[in-house]
Amino acid sequence: MKELVWDKTMSVEVPEIDEDHRRLVDLFNLLTRAVAQGEPKPYTAALMDELISCTVWHFKHEERLMLRYGYRDLAEHRTEHTALIDSAKELQQKLLLGATPPTAEDIDFLERWLTEHIYGADMALGSYLGEVM
Ligand SMILES: [Fe+2]
Repeated sequence: MKELVWDKTMSVEVPEIDEDHRRLVDLFNLLTRAVAQGEPKPYTAALMDELISCTVWHFKHEERLMLRYGYRDLAEHRTEHTALIDSAKELQQKLLLGATPPTAEDIDFLERWLTEHIYGADMALGSYLGEVM
């Protein structure tokens, strides 16, 4: 079982975004734990649903900040958000329809899904917002 630890390396130096990311990391860890402990499907499904809902909300939050502070790469960043939500919903559908619980590969996928965007696009956004907010 792999748990994510939110630390300074994950900080985008914008407290309100970091706060959202921490919440997403917590939910990811709850889901990982639930899968490792073989919790019943309705519980893991509820966690997956909460993770996606929180992510949708969080992306709207970031996009509002981008609009407010005139972020140049908004369109590109938003496209990445849309693709992330689509891929998470695809996994959610697979898990809901399938008889099998989430696999280690599914968890690895979600880990990359969460962290690669934070370490990539969100760091760039954070350093821009850090200068203009
Ligand atoms: Fe983002």
